[in-house]
Amino acid sequence: MFGLKAHLTRRLMAYITTSVLGALLISVATQYWALQPLLERTRAGNVDAAIENLAVLVTQSLWVYNETGAIDAANAILRDQFISGVSVNDHTRLFSYSNGDLAQSDILNPQMSSLVRTETDTALTVLVPLIVKAEDDSKRDFNIGTLQIHSDNRLIRQQVNELAKITLSVSAVILIVLQFLFYFLVRQLIAKPLEHFTLHVQIYAADLAPETVAVTPELLGRSDEIGRLYEIFNAQRKSLIAQNLSLTEYRSHLEQLVSQRTAELSAANETLVDSLEQLKQAQTELIRSEKMASLGILVSGIAHEVNTPLGVAITAASHLSEELRSTQKRLTNNQLTRSGFETFLAECHETETLLSHNLNRAAVLIQSFKKIAVDQASDQARYINLHGYLNEIVMSLGPKLKHTGIEVLNRVPDTINLDVPSGALAQIITNLILNSFIHGFKNGTVAGTITLDAEQHGDQALSIVYQDNGDGMGAEVLERIYDPFYTTRRSEGGSGLGMNIVYNLVTSKLHGQIETTSQLGEGLKIVMTIKLLNEQPAYQQENAL
Ligand SMILES: Nc1ncnc2c1ncn2[C@@H]1O[C@H](COP(=O)(O)OP(=O)(O)OP(=O)(O)O)[C@@H](O)[C@H]1O
Ligand SMILES: [Mg+2]
Repeated sequence: MFGLKAHLTRRLMAYITTSVLGALLISVATQYWALQPLLERTRAGNVDAAIENLAVLVTQSLWVYNETGAIDAANAILRDQFISGVSVNDHTRLFSYSNGDLAQSDILNPQMSSLVRTETDTALTVLVPLIVKAEDDSKRDFNIGTLQIHSDNRLIRQQVNELAKITLSVSAVILIVLQFLFYFLVRQLIAKPLEHFTLHVQIYAADLAPETVAVTPELLGRSDEIGRLYEIFNAQRKSLIAQNLSLTEYRSHLEQLVSQRTAELSAANETLVDSLEQLKQAQTELIRSEKMASLGILVSGIAHEVNTPLGVAITAASHLSEELRSTQKRLTNNQLTRSGFETFLAECHETETLLSHNLNRAAVLIQSFKKIAVDQASDQARYINLHGYLNEIVMSLGPKLKHTGIEVLNRVPDTINLDVPSGALAQIITNLILNSFIHGFKNGTVAGTITLDAEQHGDQALSIVYQDNGDGMGAEVLERIYDPFYTTRRSEGGSGLGMNIVYNLVTSKLHGQIETTSQLGEGLKIVMTIKLLNEQPAYQQENAL
């Protein structure tokens, strides 16, 4: 507070003092230069007045030989403040008097016919002829002597300096008095009210409590600028309080809103988590049913394949039992001839061959069915011969492909043996062939070829290339082919999981990569590059399928 007051007052004082002092100095300087010619004119006037008033007195005194009178008159001239020297003499050289700065001059004034005024840089000199008019009728003029008046210019300068000194001293006194006056005024009119106002602001600016009444008695009712400031501040504070109140209300409303929304959101989130869980379960269920579906296809395939040899075997067996019954009957009736018995034996032999051949075929089929079924149901890695294993898979799909114009070419060299989760491989190839059947060859109504190729890249990797020359697909289908539930045949029962399962099996079960390329009408090509497991023990190689 004091700082503000002192600072402001001091600065104001400094400004005012500097400007007043400046103005004073300028006016003194102006006066100084103006005074010189003024004083010069005054001097001229004084000299003229002295000549007019006192030269006559000197003349008359000299005329009557009153020397004392002449001296007194001369000294009276000298008393003028601008006259520094005076000298009088008559032309008879009987009287001569000098005083002032002419006192030492022993040169007599020359006889003058008229007044001579000489002005130099240093002084003004006036030579006045002392003339007496004759009182008789002749009225003659008698030039009886000369009066010299000398005025040194230093007298003027002294006066000027004197005046300047007085002006300066008076100004200094006035200045000091003014300073005190200003100081008092500034303090009373500005600094003190400002101090009160600052205090007022400091106390009430931070206090926005509606019940606090902001009053500073010293500022109350003032009509000047500070009074206005005080009123404006109070009005602003009031509006701030109002705003603050509505803000607080709004904030509490917002907080309520936020907590309400948060509760709603967390409820929605819980529902989402539940839905996600349900979706995951549904997906697992779908994947499982997809697996079961391919197992179903396998079962029906094998059942179909096994049907033929078993049917032949049953026919052969019933034929054999028929033959046996008729032979036995003929034997009972003693009608069995030797040639008849030999025929029966040949029949028996033939039927037995047929039976054992067909039963063997069925056994082989069941065996391979068992292998693939177990493979599909388990995730176990098994050492297989790729060519043979692919044949098994294709065979399991036989009934689906049998009466169609779709041909599957297994071009995989039969030298490739590998350790692989064979169930996954079976599921992959089954899915791909079914896709070609459904999408590429219009549910088997169109003829075409599926080719299977494979190439081994050292000990580390193997690529299996699957191709069909069916309808292929456009870029937008190709882009989404691995997306779960993406299908172009939803209305016909497609779930859109087939290729997603293929992708997952290749990447996670076979630790490989899959790349599908296709164009509409140009068939499709799928390259699966899988990582080979470590080299197999010899006994497994021998047992490779
Ligand atoms: N060989 C193919 N030829 C042409 N289009 C194909 C082929 N394979 C897949 N597609 C296209 O890719 C889509 C996705 O295939 P995916 O196997 O994932 O699903 P889906 O066969 O339609 O249904 P799901 O296999 O679940 O029964 C198919 O709907 C089809 O449009
Ligand atoms: Mg499919």
